Amino acid sequence: MTAVADTFDLLRLIDALAATGHLSHEGYRALILHRMAVESATVAAVGASNTRSDPLTIPDEVTEALATRAAAVRDNMYGRRVFIRGLIEVSNICKNDCYYCGIRASNAACDRYRLEDADILSAAAEGYALGFRTFVLQGGEDGHFSDGRLVPLIRALKSAHPDCAVTLSLGERSRDSYAALREAGADRYLLRHETATAAHYARLHPAGMSYERRMQCLSDLRGLGFQVGCGFMVGSPYQTADDLARDLAFIEAFKPDMCGIGPFIPHKDTPMGGYSAGSVGLTVFLLSIIRLIHPPVLLPATTALGTLHPAGRERAILAGANVVMPNLSPASVRKKYMLYDNKLSDGAESAECLDELRHRMAVIGHEVIVERGDVRK
Ligand code: 5AD
Repeated sequence: MTAVADTFDLLRLIDALAATGHLSHEGYRALILHRMAVESATVAAVGASNTRSDPLTIPDEVTEALATRAAAVRDNMYGRRVFIRGLIEVSNICKNDCYYCGIRASNAACDRYRLEDADILSAAAEGYALGFRTFVLQGGEDGHFSDGRLVPLIRALKSAHPDCAVTLSLGERSRDSYAALREAGADRYLLRHETATAAHYARLHPAGMSYERRMQCLSDLRGLGFQVGCGFMVGSPYQTADDLARDLAFIEAFKPDMCGIGPFIPHKDTPMGGYSAGSVGLTVFLLSIIRLIHPPVLLPATTALGTLHPAGRERAILAGANVVMPNLSPASVRKKYMLYDNKLSDGAESAECLDELRHRMAVIGHEVIVERGDVRK
């Protein structure tokens, strides 16, 4: 097949995806392999010296057509309005030992902390004054955050800020626990599925963790009436185009309310510290596909994208994303929530610098909005 026919076929795949929200495994795989080929050709052409700044700027007709379609679909659903979430990292203590993650239990070099309720409530109050109407409590799987501690905390947050949404991102819990948190007033839950391929899941996690349990949690959360977010890393060790195609098929089937994807970034004190980072360009490309699969999805331009590329978040918004999650954690703990090396927590990444974020979004024609930003049903 010639390059021209190839492009024509890929553009037809994008049309079909936009029209139906569906592609076959082979269809997703062809799009992913195309983007991978563009990037490796670019790297070959400009040389390894340039691989740190991702080959984002190399013009590619297919990538551009996809991003344009995805942005139009996002505009139609939400307009050029960027929802913001205040991220409060409540604890970096974690019982799990995920091979890629900087706060894994076995990382003795990680300086552990756990916030008090008073810290969390004052971070939220500060966030409210800045214009945040969603608070995300995110943390490792820290047994200290029992239902007994979380239920009154969620109630206190909701009564202090009745016009705000509370999102939890606290890992795997029992259905009963999720039910108690939902009953207390939590609106949304983020739990990345990490990979929709069981064998790949097993290579990223130790034996005690399972893909089936992860999926069970997502289905429990959905059943309890949470707005549910899943997501995955792009370029995680051993990941193939087939694995990514299965992630897309999973998203097609699950239709998440939110979907967080970001490039894998090595953390030096983990078993996967020697692998190379995922690609910003491929991540942005996948964001566009996900927007076309499920138009109402809330798609964050993630911190990992901003960490790997100075314009990573803008590229994500221009390709169909519509959420940014600045850090609202107390400044004293921000550097301790190091999921991967060099994780950003300042500049447009921090809640205090919302004006910088507003400006950066305005430059690309988007407006940061003060509202809960629920998923459109
Ligand atoms: N690189 C990128 N993302 C990571 N996460 C954890 N470790 C890394 C890493 N090294 C992501 C996972 C997890 C979320 C909390 O952060 O997807 O779900």
